[in-house]
Amino acid sequence: MRSDRLPRHLGVNQVAQTLEARQSTGLPVIDLTESNPTLVGLHYPPDLLTPLADAAALRYDPQPLGLPSAREAVSREFHRQHLTVPPERVVLTASSSEAYGLLFKLFANPHDEVLVPQPSYPLFDYLTALEGVRAVPYQVSYHGTWRIDLDTVQQGLSSRTRGVLVVSPNNPTGSYLHRDDLAALVDICEARGVPLIGDEVFYDYAVDRPADAVSVLTQDRVVTVALGGLSKSAGLPQVKLGWMGWSGPVAQVEPLLRAYEVIADSYLSVSTPVQQAASALLVSGAGIRQQLQQRIRRNLAQLRARCGAYPSVGVLPVEGGWTAVLQVPSVQSEEALVLDLLQHDGVRVHPGYFFDFPKEAFLIISLIVHPDVLATGLDVMLRRVGGPPA
Ligand SMILES: Cc1ncc(COP(=O)(O)O)c(C=O)c1O
Repeated sequence: MRSDRLPRHLGVNQVAQTLEARQSTGLPVIDLTESNPTLVGLHYPPDLLTPLADAAALRYDPQPLGLPSAREAVSREFHRQHLTVPPERVVLTASSSEAYGLLFKLFANPHDEVLVPQPSYPLFDYLTALEGVRAVPYQVSYHGTWRIDLDTVQQGLSSRTRGVLVVSPNNPTGSYLHRDDLAALVDICEARGVPLIGDEVFYDYAVDRPADAVSVLTQDRVVTVALGGLSKSAGLPQVKLGWMGWSGPVAQVEPLLRAYEVIADSYLSVSTPVQQAASALLVSGAGIRQQLQQRIRRNLAQLRARCGAYPSVGVLPVEGGWTAVLQVPSVQSEEALVLDLLQHDGVRVHPGYFFDFPKEAFLIISLIVHPDVLATGLDVMLRRVGGPPA
């Protein structure tokens, strides 16, 4: 007996089964999908989390939107990104995944819909379903660069639409939101009276950022919520601190924040130690962010160099984020290819279909893996997928 909010089939897919089988027999796996920053050989100063033990956290002061000192610290973080979000418009969460759930509770009734980009982050299907909401995809299409297909946004609208989501840079396409696309999305949201939700968790990880890339927060015509968090901005997913920055017309935002407070007050999920430590962690987390930024650039250079020797393998442009997309010959299905790589070569990569790519064959790899792991994995992988080198 369980609710329809959960997927009908809870079983693991074939790729996950194969991975488990390989690991259980002790065979090594060269994991080119590793996106957990704490597992890729970065240097985390051993005293980094000392601020979590601050005695100030011995006092519990439940504040649904977050402690003022932590909201001020996040407001400074937005300032660092050249964005203006006053502390009163900052709301703390335990993670951005949780923020989605809280926002869907605020904006949508059961069976309502939110528009989500495709290809994008696979968790959207779960995050929406768990709130009884339907994710309606719109397309992000590749024509040399990835851009939002605005016609498909229009086509996805219905009387049940309760929000438009945008991810910038998008995972896994790495594409940023462009100024004119933002203007078009704002027009749509304004006409429909629905909020714009911008997932900007990878905002700091620019590689080849277009000159007209913008944050959703650069306008305040419609109710807008930008999501961020320590998980990505400081490589600290285990600390569990996310945030929302709100913008939009005061007359709409203020009542929504009061309603949101009721939801947040029912959970009070952000721990006091992390809120007390927020200011210090945001400052010291810059060191991890810089290591990640360097790692991504170095890995991308290596990826391009190695793939460059195989004319049939293309590395799609990366504007930002933590992932790279490879286009490979479509001689077998992505699933068969990914299984072959895992079973026979011990190399793990994600298939494009995992992120709902509209056609085959794409492989997705993480750009934060250890450079030695990337080198070994690519050598093996390219021998299988790339055909003869040039
Ligand atoms: C686009 C995107 N948004 C949100 C998240 C989740 O971040 P958090 O750890 O803050 O829940 C991820 C995690 O990979 C992501 O890729």
